Amino acid sequence: MDKLLIYGGARLDGEVRISGAKNAVLPILAATLLADGPMRVANVPHLHDVTTMMELLGRMGVSLTVDERMGIETDTKGIHTLRAAYELVKTMRASILVLGPLVARFGEAEVSLPGGCAIGSRPVNLHVDGLRAMGADITVEGGYIRAKAGRLHGARLVLDVITVTGTENLMMAAVLAEGRTIIENAAREPEVVDLANCLIAMGANIEGAGTDTITIHGVERLNGCDYDILPDRIETGTFLVAGAISGGRVRVKRTYASIVDSVLQKLRATGAEVRVGEDWIELDMHGERPRAVDLQTAPYPAFPTDMQAQFTALNAVADGVASITETVFENRFMHVQELQRMGASIQVNGNTAIVRGVPELTGAPVMATDLRASASLILAGLVAKGETLVDRIYHIDRGYECIEEKLAQLGARIRRVAG
Ligand code: UD1
Repeated sequence: MDKLLIYGGARLDGEVRISGAKNAVLPILAATLLADGPMRVANVPHLHDVTTMMELLGRMGVSLTVDERMGIETDTKGIHTLRAAYELVKTMRASILVLGPLVARFGEAEVSLPGGCAIGSRPVNLHVDGLRAMGADITVEGGYIRAKAGRLHGARLVLDVITVTGTENLMMAAVLAEGRTIIENAAREPEVVDLANCLIAMGANIEGAGTDTITIHGVERLNGCDYDILPDRIETGTFLVAGAISGGRVRVKRTYASIVDSVLQKLRATGAEVRVGEDWIELDMHGERPRAVDLQTAPYPAFPTDMQAQFTALNAVADGVASITETVFENRFMHVQELQRMGASIQVNGNTAIVRGVPELTGAPVMATDLRASASLILAGLVAKGETLVDRIYHIDRGYECIEEKLAQLGARIRRVAG
């Protein structure tokens, strides 16, 4: 199994190109199931999760053509199986996103209950309840969700909890339903808006994406379209933190500030100078040690849970004491134990971590436990004294495109080692 070997201490300086968003491309690839005609999705990142989604669609009979430059072309006319098998779904929770499109277009689906990141219990009850309210008959047997329906009908869906993939699944189901669906307490993440824009380009009638009330008027059929995936805001934030933690200067390109407002606000609070342009953001720490910043995660537009682990690493070497509260997922502090092995001073009480910044971390062999935890260990390794070896990096390959190449381009001493 590959590992990442990092020699800490290099001050990062340079520019890096941000890839398309993992959390936008996965629902949009699932949405291609709704298209009656070929579709082309561009700015697709090379990620393990994208390969998994393609495998999932391929096994159903979707034809997929990958062109390095143009992106992925899909065609659904050969679909023969309406099933997402456990062996694939267990490696990627987002596989659940095929449920809404399959039921809406084909009136049938069999989707394994997901596994995915080990970050607390992550149910899909709201996806199932919403589809039931739209007329689907759903049973859960042998670890599979089995759904059957005639044409779905519109409904007023009030989500108990703000759920990103839940909102996306129900929006994708509603676009082909008869009549009007209103999703209240909807997720407002930019990736939800990107999916809505893609569906609109396919002929859907959707209003309010990006607000907490999304209204969908069902249509009879959707076409294919050409669609460009929005930049990855979590990758954007992670590289800016890499700049801040190393006291360096990093410019991220092909991304923009309005999708990372809450993160930029926290980075400025660390003392970083942040400048933004139309399609770039530059952070300069001017060689200074970052100041500690308190934060609390919550659904967009508040501070993202997917940036919490990276800011835990940043605070671990910052000047001062920070309080970090995780409100989205339970059990999302698994990186803390590993950071402690590098000399970090962090105390976890329930869903809050108190981080006392230390002047220096020391390199150690550490183990990645989930996607964003892996990013935090790499960030810590960038500034730790000596050598850090990050094991189980298959987690990082699920969500970051060529992270070691991009960091090396900024001057980090990092390489992938087999073993
Ligand atoms: C998505 C993102 C993930 C991010 C998360 C929160 C994708 C592919 N993944 O995950 O990177 O960390 O949003 O921003 O976009 N919940 C329920 N019942 C449900 C669904 C969710 O109780 O039916 C709860 C979850 O347990 C969790 C909260 O809602 O506490 C938010 O989860 P959710 O937004 O659904 O996360 P994902 O969509 O899986």
